[in-house]
Amino acid sequence: MRVPIIAGNWKMYKTVGEAVNFVRELAGRVAGVSGVETVVCPPFTALAAVAAELSKQGAGIVPGAQNMYWENEGAYTGEIAPGMLKEVGCRYVILGHSERRRYFGETDAAVNKKVHAALAHDLIPIVCVGERLEERESGTTEDVVRGQVEGALAGLTARQAAGLVVAYEPVWAIGTGRTASAADAQQVNGFIRKLLVDLFGETAAGAVRIQYGGSVKPGNTAELMAQPDIDGALVGGAGLKADSFAGIITNAVGAGPGVGRL
Ligand code: PGA
Repeated sequence: MRVPIIAGNWKMYKTVGEAVNFVRELAGRVAGVSGVETVVCPPFTALAAVAAELSKQGAGIVPGAQNMYWENEGAYTGEIAPGMLKEVGCRYVILGHSERRRYFGETDAAVNKKVHAALAHDLIPIVCVGERLEERESGTTEDVVRGQVEGALAGLTARQAAGLVVAYEPVWAIGTGRTASAADAQQVNGFIRKLLVDLFGETAAGAVRIQYGGSVKPGNTAELMAQPDIDGALVGGAGLKADSFAGIITNAVGAGPGVGRL
């Protein structure tokens, strides 16, 4: 049974003050909601304050980071190490987001190193994959996604793979208001599940939570979550306001046949 996971990717939004106010409000709005795991991923500068506030709230919301480097420490100006994330109470880390790939040149090989480093530090990777519009239009979605999944997860054991979160995020749906239909999202999420079966076996693949991301809103959450291989959402824009993010969390609960309850 997979517990659904809703993660808010705040990107380069919110000061420390705004971030702390947000999680305070969110904790109030989702108090009493069970059966879903909630993650918020603030910018690095707000991570420690958000983690401290969340542990004070005790609402079960957990902090995640949006990126990290794979080395333990060293002369890597501007980078953040896995141990630094652990120190501030971080539990998850988004890796390979399409904006990282597009603007910062992140490759599947780099994502793979980060996935190994995260696991070595007991951080749970949220590994992002997804095709661009021209790739979808030319019918290569599955090839692209296969390459990204195989590249990012190379060298993992089945046991390591079982603990992962994978986020399918079609690039054309991110921040565009153009959500993939629930059927299209399920098709790719189901394809990813089969790929994971080939790579790691039925048991591990069955344990991996596969999110959908790309213009998720309170109004389309239940339909997406009702798909058998959609186990959660990675949320950008709608995750920046406590009321809409709380709406997504609430609408995700118990919506899908493929998901379990806490
Ligand atoms: P969006 O972003 O919800 O604003 O489309 C999703 C993401 O980039 O993870």
